[in-house]
Parts: sequence; structure tokens; C-alpha cells
Amino acid sequence: MKALDQIVVEGGTPLRGAVRVHGAKNAALPILAASLLVDGVCVVDDVPDLQDIRVMVDILRALGASVEYSPPVVRVDARRISQTEVPEELMRRMRSSIFLMGPLLARYGHARVSRPGGCTIGSRPIDLHLKGLAALGSSIDERHGYIDCRARRLRGAAIYLDTPSVGATENLMMASVLAEGTTVIGNAAREPEIADLADFLNRLGARIEGAGEDTVVISGVQSLAGGRHTIIPDRIVAGTLAIAAAMAGGEVTLEHVRPRHLGAVLTKLREAGVEIEVGRDIMRVRSDGELSAVEQVRTAPYPGFPTDLQAPFMALLSVARGMSIVSETVFEERFKHVGELCRMGANIRVDLRTAFVQGVPRLTGAVVQASDLRAGAALVLAGLAAKGTTVVEQAHHIDRGYERLDEMLRGLGARVRRLSQS
Ligand code: UD1
Repeated sequence: MKALDQIVVEGGTPLRGAVRVHGAKNAALPILAASLLVDGVCVVDDVPDLQDIRVMVDILRALGASVEYSPPVVRVDARRISQTEVPEELMRRMRSSIFLMGPLLARYGHARVSRPGGCTIGSRPIDLHLKGLAALGSSIDERHGYIDCRARRLRGAAIYLDTPSVGATENLMMASVLAEGTTVIGNAAREPEIADLADFLNRLGARIEGAGEDTVVISGVQSLAGGRHTIIPDRIVAGTLAIAAAMAGGEVTLEHVRPRHLGAVLTKLREAGVEIEVGRDIMRVRSDGELSAVEQVRTAPYPGFPTDLQAPFMALLSVARGMSIVSETVFEERFKHVGELCRMGANIRVDLRTAFVQGVPRLTGAVVQASDLRAGAALVLAGLAAKGTTVVEQAHHIDRGYERLDEMLRGLGARVRRLSQS
């Protein structure tokens, strides 16, 4: 997991076999943050072993919680918190630390975080988080790059999100769980990770209805008791592995998946000519590697096509026969993989937020750079379908969201190795 790690892929080997998909990072992060709300011990199972999770564990510890982490189990006792300020150094290491605001404010009446900076996929504002917290009665004082929120006790309110933000929905759900009265979040995001957070909180005594739908209603309770919860499988990892199998050809069984969380992705894979069979928590992907273009892939909030799979899917389309059109509507700068795919021989033209992908018969291996997590995964997948050797530099980005992607693919017969440099 060092900054100089490279993933080296020899293309041209079909994938075969079975792989178990790990727990969802994007569900585990808010759930760990929510453990701060709890007056008892929380045990969380199937937490993926990832860098962002380690940062979250470090933050909880820095705040004074007692945390035992032996992947995939995390045990948090946040009954005695010693501070409500998230250390700047840790805040910088993970944008999701913004999640700490809601729970700290709800339970301790104060939260201080440094404002998260921009990131490589766009500006990622937090205005909806702050407007929502203010509506719940918090004062918000922003200066010198810090945000300081204070409230004796939050009060339920009607909140409408201008955009269905995943993080804002989660943060405001966590903030309002212990608030006085009822909170209604309108135009809420509907991602499965939000429903998982609500399941966790409800199990501990919260009263949240409608999570996973566009209106979430939270009736405040006095306190939450400890309990145990298992994180849902990671739909983005499952989707990435399905796309890998489709591109490399072969037959792969994905175990521990929720196919219903992947509706839009499976539709597009089938449109591209991939055979997919689904069971309750299993999925089989079969492909002869002959793929056809799809007319339109348009990222959108769930249940639309996930922006986190846009780059991996574009890698697939780059070798699919015909012209595909990919529109990115969620993040404004999420085409950084395009230049790298073109270095491998892809034919892609970008016009603002739309990419025109003219499939080529074959990519060729090259030295390329992962600019962010999903772009990095896309390049590894491109390597599987390319002729020759692909070296993906800056592989630590990939490790932020995939628990050893190289090992998972190797287990399926891919010729992938990691070069660690110190
Ligand atoms: C989460 C996911 C990320 C995924 C994204 C969209 C986690 C830890 N990360 O990120 O993997 O790519 O959802 O599915 O769960 N916005 C505002 N104001 C705000 C907040 C967001 O305008 O206060 C905008 C963003 O700029 C973006 C859109 O809303 O255009 C969606 O962002 P959001 O859903 O908040 O993404 P994250 O929660 O950061």
C-alpha cells in the first residue's frame, strides 16, 4: 500500500473461478462514524480492510473511543469521548471524515473539523451538509479553514436537499437520530449504503423510516444502545469484477453480492453482450470477450448507473465494437482515465461531460497512472484486455477501495502482480 506501488498486468488471459466480494467501504465508513452516537459497544462485521477504514479507526481513537480492529471485525466503545475536534492531519487523509460532524454534534453538542479540500474528481462541496445541520439548530462558524458547529440539542426539522447527496443524507440522518422531534429529509439519496446505515441505527434503537427512498423520516430518540451489525457487500467491487470478467472473457462466479443493487450495471453489461445469471446473493458472469457498444451510459444517483463504475465501464466500452456515449452527470472532473486509456490505444473523445468512445479491436499495454481510486481500477481492467504488459502506477489509489484487487484477480487466473517499492 505504498505510494510507489505498481500493479503489473499481462493481458490476454480469460478469468475463471469464484471470488467472494468484501463488505462495502461506503457503508462501513458512515456506520463507524455513527458508532459515536451509541451509548454502548458496537460490533461491526465484514468491514473491508482498506486504508480509508484505518483512517476512520484512527479518528475514532483520536477522539477518545476505544476501538479494536481485527479485519473484518471492528468493535467500538465510544462511551467516553475526550474531544470533539477531528485532528486536521487525519481529516486531510480522508474526505469522508465530514461524516463525523453529524454524530459528534448530536451526541456532544459540538464538532470541529477542517474543511475538506477539493479532490481529483471535482470540487465536492459540503454546503448541503452545513445547511441541513443549520436547519437542525446548529450554529456554524467557518473561519481559517475550520468549521465549528455547536448546538445544545438539535431539533427535528424539514430539510430538502437540492441534490440527492449521499454524504449529506447520511450526515443528516446521523445528526437527527438523537434530535428532539421529527426530521424529514426530502430529495434524499437512495443508495443502498444509506439503507444499511439506517438498518444499523434502527437495530440500536433509532427510529428511521424510508431510508433507501427519497423521503427519510427520523423520529428522535433519547439514546442508542450497543449492538452488532454486518455490512452489506460492496456493489462497486462486485461491478468492477463483473466488468473484468466481461473484458477478459471467461466465466466468473461472484459470491456474497446483492445483484439487486446492480440493476443499471447489469442492464448495460447485458446490452454489451455479456451473459449474467443472478441468484439471491450470487452472480455468474460469462463472456467470450466479444463486446458490443452501448448507445448511452449516463451516470446518475442510485438507482441510476453509478458514477463509481463509469471509469471501469468506459474501459470495457473502449474495446466494444461500435460507438458508445458516456455522460458523467454526478462529478464534473471524472474523466481523468480517458487520457490514460488513450495511451493504451483507446479511441475516446471528450466534450465537457460527455465521452464518445469508439471501440478498438485491441488495447496495447503501456505505463499508465492511476489518478484516483476508480480510474485506477479501470486501468487494471484495461490491462486485462490489452496485448502485452500494462504497468499501473500510483496503485495506492486503488487500495483505497478494493481489498487487494490484484490478489482477487490473480485468484481468477489473471496474470497480475504488485511491485512494491520503498
Ligand atoms: C459518495 C460516495 C462516492 C460516490 C458518490 C456518488 C462515500 C464515502 N462516497 O460520495 O464513492 O462517488 O457518493 O455516488 O459514500 N454535492 C453538493 N453539495 C453537498 C454535497 C454534494 O453539491 O453538500 C454534490 C456533489 O458535488 C456531487 C453530488 O452532489 O455533484 C453527489 O455527491 P455526494 O452524493 O454527496 O457524494 P459523496 O457522498 O461525497
